[in-house]
Amino acid sequence: MGLTSALGSVLFVLGLSGICTGFVQENCTNYKLQFERIYSVPGDMAMLNSTLVSPDVFNFTTVPYNITWYDSKTGQEMSNQTGRILVKEETLWFLNVTLDDNGEYVTIVRTPFRCYRQATKLIVDSLTGECGRPRKVDQTLMNGVADTLSCPLKDYMSKLDSYNISSSIKWYKGCEHIVDGTGKYSYRDMTTLMIQRVEPQNNGSYTCTLTFTLGGITGSVSETIDARIREVYSLVPQVREPASEIIKAEIGSSFSKRCLVFVPGVGKPFVSILWIARDKFIRNTQPSDRVYTSQTSFNIQDVPDKGAWLERLLIISELREEDFHINYTCRSYSSRGHPEGYFTLLPADPNIILPIGSVLGGVTVLFIIGVVIYYLFKVDIVLWFRRVFPVLYTNKDLDGKLYDAYVAYPQRCAVGFSKEVETFALHTLPQVLEKACGYKLFIAGRDCLPGHGKSPTWWRKLCLMVFARVIVLVASRSKC
Ligand SMILES: *[C@@H]1O[C@H](CO)[C@@H](O)[C@H](O)[C@H]1NC(C)=O
Ligand SMILES: *[C@@H]1O[C@H](CO)[C@@H](O)[C@H](O)[C@H]1NC(C)=O
Ligand SMILES: *[C@@H]1O[C@H](CO)[C@@H](O)[C@H](O)[C@H]1NC(C)=O
Ligand SMILES: *[C@@H]1O[C@H](CO)[C@@H](O)[C@H](O)[C@H]1NC(C)=O
Ligand SMILES: *[C@@H]1O[C@H](CO)[C@@H](O)[C@H](O)[C@H]1NC(C)=O
Ligand SMILES: *[C@@H]1O[C@H](CO)[C@@H](O)[C@H](O)[C@H]1NC(C)=O
Ligand SMILES: *[C@@H]1O[C@H](CO)[C@@H](O)[C@H](O)[C@H]1NC(C)=O
Ligand SMILES: *[C@@H]1O[C@H](CO)[C@@H](O)[C@H](O)[C@H]1NC(C)=O
Ligand SMILES: *[C@@H]1O[C@H](CO)[C@@H](O)[C@H](O)[C@H]1NC(C)=O
Repeated sequence: MGLTSALGSVLFVLGLSGICTGFVQENCTNYKLQFERIYSVPGDMAMLNSTLVSPDVFNFTTVPYNITWYDSKTGQEMSNQTGRILVKEETLWFLNVTLDDNGEYVTIVRTPFRCYRQATKLIVDSLTGECGRPRKVDQTLMNGVADTLSCPLKDYMSKLDSYNISSSIKWYKGCEHIVDGTGKYSYRDMTTLMIQRVEPQNNGSYTCTLTFTLGGITGSVSETIDARIREVYSLVPQVREPASEIIKAEIGSSFSKRCLVFVPGVGKPFVSILWIARDKFIRNTQPSDRVYTSQTSFNIQDVPDKGAWLERLLIISELREEDFHINYTCRSYSSRGHPEGYFTLLPADPNIILPIGSVLGGVTVLFIIGVVIYYLFKVDIVLWFRRVFPVLYTNKDLDGKLYDAYVAYPQRCAVGFSKEVETFALHTLPQVLEKACGYKLFIAGRDCLPGHGKSPTWWRKLCLMVFARVIVLVASRSKC
């Protein structure tokens, strides 16, 4: 009996304590321990944020809820303590962290019908003698170029912004305060420290300290970065091609366009290149697909600028109607951004240049053929022309008369007949004027056939002139 009542009272006590601590035996959906740990040191401020108030957990915009924070060590609900602790909805603030604060804190979100539970871990490290925090975040600086360090306190800043609380930031290299704008350092925005040109001596630890006033206390939170200088680096990719081009192509033809990207830097960059059409990635890489891309090729360059050239082809084996009037975008993906370039594909204009070209070409060919034919068959053509268009030749060579000259001389038995004259008229005259000069003579008393007058007109005239002088000469000498 004694044992049973004792057991009963133990159970009762346990049950009572469960009711008191509130969260131990409650049947809540357990989201366990948040993966992210909060690191702090004594004297700093620290923020624990529960992620239960999220659409992934419950419909917090429509469902009413209460949030309670518990210390898992004591099972006690966390409450406001001036200068020490501030409970604000899903956020638990330690305003002046002590080593005792190390531990897990549990959030319970209760809605009218359900509850959700999550734990968050705060790890408090004791301060060492050195400047900065014992836990460090690794970041790299690229040697020889401008680079930045990023303060890992963005969560704090956005939370303070949501409270409408102003804060200020200070950077330190080791123990030394970096004044904004001095030397090659500048504060680019609330969270970024810019180094104009990184040198090997820029390695080492940097601390950013965020100072603000909360719950009546002005405090700060700091993070330390271990910056290492890296020789291998890459800067923002530059898409050189395509450059907002308009490209015309003929339907049915094959088409290809390269995407050319230059990544300034040293070593192989972690950059991928993708072609996009109609907001979709072109993932096909097989030539059996009508639209596909090549693999990305890659080339290191040292001069004039250090960097890498990347190239990826977009290939359309046969252009169809649907391929036109859309933008093809080539986008480069890198940790430093994703610049892109595009071209628009349009159908080729009804080709004007080709017909003009072929007409001109045709005319040229015809002209050449004409010239050749003319030289080969010049005579035949002229003769043919004379035959076909005699009108054109009336005033020229053929004046419609059969003979060029009529030769008359005293006939036998006539007065003044002479053997010499007859010989001259019948032999010498024709010999010279007809054979040599190409005239056609009608010589009375000779049944002569017209010869082939092929000699040019000017030649005949010259010939006649010379012969006339000869006759005059002969006549003046002879006494005939
Ligand atoms: C807790 O709730 C689950 C369903 O949400 C149910 O299956 C389980 O039996 C409950 N446990 C207790 C102890 O009520
Ligand atoms: C804190 O958690 C809430 C969800 O409960 C989330 O919306 C918010 O972004 C978180 N804040 C920070 C600074 O992480
Ligand atoms: C949240 O509530 C709204 C309105 O009651 C409903 O339309 C929506 O589906 C709910 N979402 C979830 C995730 O339950
Ligand atoms: C939240 O707490 C208030 C006051 O303690 C209480 O009146 C209300 O019912 C609680 N709401 C929920 C959803 O538990
Ligand atoms: C703690 O104090 C803050 C500001 O003074 C207030 O908004 C908050 O509701 C308080 N929390 C509790 C649990 O009383
Ligand atoms: C934080 O607490 C320590 C002792 O626990 C005290 O000396 C110090 O002044 C407190 N800091 C602030 C900002 O209140
Ligand atoms: C934030 O604070 C400023 C003054 O410090 C005030 O003018 C402004 O209205 C506040 N905004 C909100 C959303 O509370
Ligand atoms: C910085 O790098 C140099 C050599 O590159 C090394 O000697 C030095 O210890 C480093 N300093 C820090 C703080 O890491
Ligand atoms: C292509 O993109 C440019 C710039 O984004 C835009 O001005 C143009 O209208 C787009 N053309 C088509 C056909 O989508």
